[in-house]
Amino acid sequence: MRVDGVPMRTVWWAGRGRVRMINQPLLPHRFEVVDMPDYHATAEAIRSMVVRGAGAIGATGALGMAQAAVEAPEKDFHAFIAQAASELRGTRPTAQNLFYGINTVLAAIEREGAAINQAREAAIAAANAVCDDDAACCERIGEFGAPLLADRRRVNTHCNAGWLAFVDWGSALSPVYRAHRDGVKLFVYVDETRPRQQGSQLTAWELGQEGVDHAIIADNATGHYLKAGAIDVVIVGSDRIAANGDVANKIGTYSSALAARANGVPFYVAAPTTTIATHTPTGDDIPIEERSDEELLYAWGWSDDGHFIRVRTSPSNSRGKNPAFDVTPAALITGIITEKGIVPATPEGIASVAR
Ligand code: MRU
Repeated sequence: MRVDGVPMRTVWWAGRGRVRMINQPLLPHRFEVVDMPDYHATAEAIRSMVVRGAGAIGATGALGMAQAAVEAPEKDFHAFIAQAASELRGTRPTAQNLFYGINTVLAAIEREGAAINQAREAAIAAANAVCDDDAACCERIGEFGAPLLADRRRVNTHCNAGWLAFVDWGSALSPVYRAHRDGVKLFVYVDETRPRQQGSQLTAWELGQEGVDHAIIADNATGHYLKAGAIDVVIVGSDRIAANGDVANKIGTYSSALAARANGVPFYVAAPTTTIATHTPTGDDIPIEERSDEELLYAWGWSDDGHFIRVRTSPSNSRGKNPAFDVTPAALITGIITEKGIVPATPEGIASVAR
């Protein structure tokens, strides 16, 4: 996608063992690209959400494994790789793509056996392939999803499932970008997405860069607009899809799905098949990340004199509870838009596209 008109990806292999990525917490106020010099730095970037979003952290996990393969000493090569995989896996628990990216590179390394130099090359090639595959799948999701928007032009989305959350194109926003480029005039209601504000800070910025008309709404306004008939379709992304079709996505998604169902509005989930976890039977089996309550008790932003500051917005003696994701039951989902087509959120539908 484009930043100030220049085509760009979210995260990429920069050569000589370095990984480069967009520094997402600075958006929308400052655009900056940062270098991760080793796999520890890359793991920390995932943990601290410098890079975030299911596909983007999957690609970053893969690239972190490639860094580990470059860094690993010949003597303890495989022990070093196992330690790196464990550290990268421990960064965030919910998004399936992270485990997919790490395991794909691990398998490529293991295929080379004792041939260390070949293993290093295979790791870099596999990580780049994970990135390219993510971008290609997301582009296909746009092609399958765009026809849904031909006569449903007022779209609502939650969190950021745009290109920043993947390597390119995005999942939920890919049909929007495809339709927009094909000349369809759309309007997107962007849920703010408390507490990290991926909607107001990232989705709104992305849509602005692509010239898509949109408005940011408070999360608790979504039901109001659905009831008022102002929204024709809801499309969200996913961090993990269970084998029965239940979907984990950013906290607040479940409430939107309930409100959509109550008002007869179609509710689609868009995700590459790398998000499907066939070993996770139902939504109840998906680990839900609990993040620091600081995300809830404080707000972050830019002061008028150009400083990035945080301010406390709650009583100093209050605590918070901050689950990062929730699960939407399959029964509330109209369909799942994948790179292989749109399938029902049923065990059969999931099995028909799972890798
Ligand atoms: O906590 P984040 O920002 O990594 O959240 C993940 C997500 O981007 C969303 O849940 C998104 O809707 C899933 S699709 C990438």
